[in-house]
Amino acid sequence: MTKSSSLKSEDKQLTSSIPEELDPFRMPDHIAVIMDGNGRWAKAKGLPRSVGHSAGVDALKNTLRLCSDWGVGALTVYAFSTENWSRPLEEVGFLMTLFKRVLKKELQTLRAQQVRISFLGDLVKLPNELQDLIIQATELTSGNTGIKFNVCTNYGGRRELVNAAKNLAIRSLNGELDPSLIDENIFAAELLTANEVDPDLLIRTSGERRISNFLLWQLAYSEIYITETLWPDFDRNSLLHALSDYQSRCRRFGGLNQISPKEEDFQS
Ligand code: FPP
Repeated sequence: MTKSSSLKSEDKQLTSSIPEELDPFRMPDHIAVIMDGNGRWAKAKGLPRSVGHSAGVDALKNTLRLCSDWGVGALTVYAFSTENWSRPLEEVGFLMTLFKRVLKKELQTLRAQQVRISFLGDLVKLPNELQDLIIQATELTSGNTGIKFNVCTNYGGRRELVNAAKNLAIRSLNGELDPSLIDENIFAAELLTANEVDPDLLIRTSGERRISNFLLWQLAYSEIYITETLWPDFDRNSLLHALSDYQSRCRRFGGLNQISPKEEDFQS
């Protein structure tokens, strides 16, 4: 989906928690994050990688809270890729246990904060107990009215695109769809993000300059912000810096218009 919402003037009083360094009219609707550097953070401290992942959870909780407080509509994070299964068995096992533990522990807080959580990816490959917790958390928060929080788990962008193409082919073969009518909207509706606006901003921590098979379709026009900060160290100041940088960008979406889409929406 392309951008649909924008901050209206009557919402401005609701944004009093947005830091004064930021322009409340140019906040991103949707932020995507590649949370990288947990292992290096731990190694630099002489600690096992698992400690880095646990510290990464704290950074994630803090980032979610800040995004929610600052009126960001959606946060999508890359928690576990289709390629992450190739890590040592012990680390994969630790991550699965960590996801379970965090979901159990944080569910009430997510409900209280009006967060709507969902998980994007090939979830049937996850341990059964984790799948059950995912279903429970998704259902129990689906009626919430606050920030949308998408956790990409066993997610791969290429796999998502192949599945979309496969579904469209099946629907065409079944006579439900005229293949000559397939356009970008019909294609995007087959993706795991069918009901989401595309990310305005992609943040990648730890200095790597790659997309790493994340949201390949959805990031087409996202602004990319890369920081050397390792994910467990990503704090309020880091988010503020990323958002200030984002607000300094001129988004043209392939055109020539120098005005940001949000300002334009607000003026009309
Ligand atoms: C990348 O750092 C991080 C991961 C593969 C895991 C990210 C997961 C979390 C932060 C926990 C999220 C928890 C929930 C419940 C959503 P890395 O291990 O690749 O670090 P490195 O590149 O320094 O080795």
